[in-house]
Amino acid sequence: MAGAGIETRVYPDPERLAASVAEAIAALAVRQARTAPRPLGIALSGGSTPKRLYELLAAPPHVDRIPWRQVEFFFGDERSVPPDHPDSNWAMAKRALLDHVPAPAHRMEAEIGDADGYARILDDRIARRRDGVPVLDLVLLGMGDDGHTASLFPGTAALAERRRFVVMNEVPQLHTRRMTLTYPVLNAADRVWALIAGAGKRTVVAECLARAADPGDPPARPILGVRPTAGELVWHLDAAAAGSTA
Ligand code: 6PG
Repeated sequence: MAGAGIETRVYPDPERLAASVAEAIAALAVRQARTAPRPLGIALSGGSTPKRLYELLAAPPHVDRIPWRQVEFFFGDERSVPPDHPDSNWAMAKRALLDHVPAPAHRMEAEIGDADGYARILDDRIARRRDGVPVLDLVLLGMGDDGHTASLFPGTAALAERRRFVVMNEVPQLHTRRMTLTYPVLNAADRVWALIAGAGKRTVVAECLARAADPGDPPARPILGVRPTAGELVWHLDAAAAGSTA
């Protein structure tokens, strides 16, 4: 299955989706450590889907194979909660991965709303630029059943942001605001991998792939605004989300 310009890879179940992406990240990290004089910059996704991926990266064989001091973690978004809150993306990633590997990680201080401070971290830590925008080597994303990704929710102001790399985004449908990377940063990345699993995503996945060629401006389904200008875009789906038997 595919939508105009969106490569999809379908796996039988969430475990094999996570295992395949973990293997791909490990191979990328090993290859880059051999060839590039800089850390592999990875933006982690929040939510529940990537938790198993993070656990696999923090366990043998990957934990022993990946050159962690040549990896640097960022985040795609964060809720406006303290770092030890149950809803915190940082807390989830810390438990599943960051506490178990020596790679540096940069937390989004969403609870104090310091979006400019995080933009300065990106500017300082990421040397490469694409049209003036910091280039992440890999961005991991999820997708909600409304088609949101990172904290780019339908009908919210951040969808229109074309200058700033990081913003605090008011999300009225959740009665909160969240910190999020914006489309310019997501679309400057070398690779964007969306991890989408579960039957609950099936309808919106099918709709998005059908609308990929004409997503609207701003896209009614925010994930359709993620179209890397030069990088790779892959949606990793389990069979339930893809509506197929892989
Ligand atoms: C977040 C994520 C968000 C997430 C989707 C899917 O902070 O929640 O960044 O974009 O990826 O909501 O979440 P699930 O993986 O839990 O379905």
